[in-house]
Amino acid sequence: YVANISLFCRVFANDQNINQLTKMKVIHTIKDLQAELTALRAQGKKVGLVPTMGALHAGHASLVKRSVSENGVTVVSVFVNPTQFKDKNDLAKYPRTLDADCRLLEEMYPQPDTREFSYAPLDTVMEGAFRPGHFNGVCQIVSKLFDAVQPDRAYFGEKDFQQLAIIREMVRQMDYKLEIVGCPIVREEDGL
Ligand code: PAF
Repeated sequence: YVANISLFCRVFANDQNINQLTKMKVIHTIKDLQAELTALRAQGKKVGLVPTMGALHAGHASLVKRSVSENGVTVVSVFVNPTQFKDKNDLAKYPRTLDADCRLLEEMYPQPDTREFSYAPLDTVMEGAFRPGHFNGVCQIVSKLFDAVQPDRAYFGEKDFQQLAIIREMVRQMDYKLEIVGCPIVREEDGL
C-alpha cells in the first residue's frame, strides 16, 4: 500500500517510468490489500514486497524496479514504524505523511507489540549496541508486514547490511516461506 503518492511519482518520473503509475493502486487497509492480493494470486501472479518508511529516493526506486521486474505485483509499504525509534525526537523528526501513518499505526499495532526478537550477536553489535531495541522494532514491523502481505519475495537495501542479516536470520528461524532479496546500494546525486 503506497501512501506517499507524490514522492513515489517523483521517483518514477525521475526514472522515466511514469507509465507504471497507471497500474498503481493506493490501498489504506490490510483487509483491502489482502483482498486485492488474493485476486492477483489467483491469476498466478507472484508478490514482491518493498518495505519502506516513506521519504522515497533513488535507493527505494531501485528496489521497486527490481521487484517489478521479478514479480507480477509489487507492494510498497510506506510506514514510519515507531517501535524501531528509541529516541522519540528521531521519530518526531522523521519525514512522513502524518495522516496516512496514523491510520496505518492503528492497524499495525492495535495493541502494543510485546514480542521480543533476539538474534545475538547479530543484533547486539554495531548499530544494535548504540540503539538498543532498534532491531527488535524492525523485526516487529517486518514480521507484521510479512504476515499481512505474505509476499513471495521481499526486497531490502544492502546499505543496511546489519538489518538485512537480521531479517535473513528471522526468516530462517521463523521459517517464513519467502525469498529475501538484498539489493546493491544506489544513491541520489546528493549522496542520499
Ligand atoms: O529500512 C527501513 O526503511 C526500515 O527499517 C524498514 C525495513 C522499512 C522497517 O520499518
